[in-house]
Amino acid sequence: MSGVEDRIEDLRQRKAQAEAGGGQNRIAVQHKKGKLTARERIEHLLDEDSFMEVDSLVEHRCRDFEMDRNVIPGDGVVCGHGTIGGRTVYCFAQDFTVYGGSLGEMHGLKICKILDMALKTGAPVIGLNDSGGARIQEGVASLGSYAEIFFRNVRASGVIPQISVIMGPCAGGAVYSPAITDFVVMVDKTAHMFITGPEVIKTVTNEDVSFEELGGAGTHASRSGVTHFTAESDEDALTITRDLIALLPSNNLEKPPTKSTSDPLDRICDELTELIPDNPSHPYDILDVIESVLDDGAFLEVQAEFAQNIIVGYGRLGGHTVGVVGNQPKILAGCLDIDASVKAARFVRFCDAFNIPIITLVDVPGFLPGANQEWGGIIRHGAKLLYAYAEATVPKITVITRKAYGGAYDVMSSKHIRGDYNIAWPTAQLAVMGADGAVQIIHRRRINSAGNPEQERERLVDDYNNTFANPYQAAALGYIDDVIQPNQTRTVLIRALGALLEKEEIRPARKHGNIPL
Ligand code: HXC
Repeated sequence: MSGVEDRIEDLRQRKAQAEAGGGQNRIAVQHKKGKLTARERIEHLLDEDSFMEVDSLVEHRCRDFEMDRNVIPGDGVVCGHGTIGGRTVYCFAQDFTVYGGSLGEMHGLKICKILDMALKTGAPVIGLNDSGGARIQEGVASLGSYAEIFFRNVRASGVIPQISVIMGPCAGGAVYSPAITDFVVMVDKTAHMFITGPEVIKTVTNEDVSFEELGGAGTHASRSGVTHFTAESDEDALTITRDLIALLPSNNLEKPPTKSTSDPLDRICDELTELIPDNPSHPYDILDVIESVLDDGAFLEVQAEFAQNIIVGYGRLGGHTVGVVGNQPKILAGCLDIDASVKAARFVRFCDAFNIPIITLVDVPGFLPGANQEWGGIIRHGAKLLYAYAEATVPKITVITRKAYGGAYDVMSSKHIRGDYNIAWPTAQLAVMGADGAVQIIHRRRINSAGNPEQERERLVDDYNNTFANPYQAAALGYIDDVIQPNQTRTVLIRALGALLEKEEIRPARKHGNIPL
């Protein structure tokens, strides 16, 4: 090689080889599976022409198993940074066409570099996962790189948002990077996550289970709660990721971006006036309240198919991002159980870490009774939600629409665990428990000795309801700050939020608390 032109040509060829990945045949196989390539995915994820690649010329240094004769620049992962909505993000995309996207030493270290750069610059990081797991030929060197990634995921937790998009296999210990990150998006049918696959399971436990049933998006969305969003296709997964990024701050020192809205700040929500059924045992859909009050009714629900007795997700109020938590009376009467507590606790902690105010809509008859709940540890899991709300110092606004009973009243962002602005609708009922159960406990003797026990029971239930089936005892104690008409909810929330945006609350210094994990 002599002149500059030769050298430039040489560079061109090297870059072209990196861009070709595993070659046309493997790319065709990838497309046939309905999957995009790593580079096509990045193109969909980022703003047009914003991607700047790093480390496209990194190569593995494995000399075993004839790997020295099989070197592809880039080592099976495309890394770099670009913008989403004009804001910087870092990203990596595993390239299944190169060694099945498997993670060897250098592939792993490329991801580490991206995580380090994202952390240094305070920008979100997005991983597009499509990999056969640890590169078998590289042995412990690949395990070492995995652990380096895990360490960085943990170090960045609560500092920058981390999103994992699963677009192919993600098996064995490899699942733990996505599990540590804040959000997992899975593509339906093409993404699979599991610790041990169907064949190993068959050998060890003799269970027959398909790939899809074991670790498909449907399973992780509804049964395990591992995934936060299910996408119909690669393109859909990347759109969800862009939508999510638009709502979040870039790091824990920033506030979320604001978005101007034409939705009037003082819009009256008349549809809420008649929403609560006369019969307190009848359900309604808390989503109707959420969509009624948020800007343009836009709500990005998180973990929509998991623990549906509680709803969590993001929207905006007067242009400001808020996290919404709402008991769902349609499912299990809105009771808190193990899954709902864990789901909401993790959501609340993310909001708190990233300066996102929390709106809590309360209609909760209590914790779910049952031996399986007790044996499964509802005590320690329920405590997670209590802990998460109590430790959160972001603005916390609570609206009690109907029931707020027992311990669940305390847990759901009550005044006592430092809700900043707690309001109730006139339909609210704040009490230790519902009337039927309460009367049975405190008036059993009186009912049994009455001439007409049923009539006496009804009288006592009415009496109890008159005392507690309203928000006024709590209002008299200052436990709620105001009782409002349901149709004013949006206006009141926006005003309360406006006054709380600059809230600061200092807690005692400590290394970290000890949340009951
Ligand atoms: C090296 C791998 C690989 C791996 C796939 N390939 N997985 N190379 N290490 N882990 C290569 C294949 O040899 C093949 O190369 C190419 O990638 C495509 O693989 P196929 O098997 O042809 O593709 P497909 O039929 O779609 O099956 C995909 C797959 C399967 C389901 C992922 O490849 C598979 O089961 N791989 C092994 C998965 C595994 O057990 N990984 C280790 C998990 S434990 P050629 O050259 O033929 O195209 C783990 C621990 C992590 O990861 C620990 C972290 C702490």
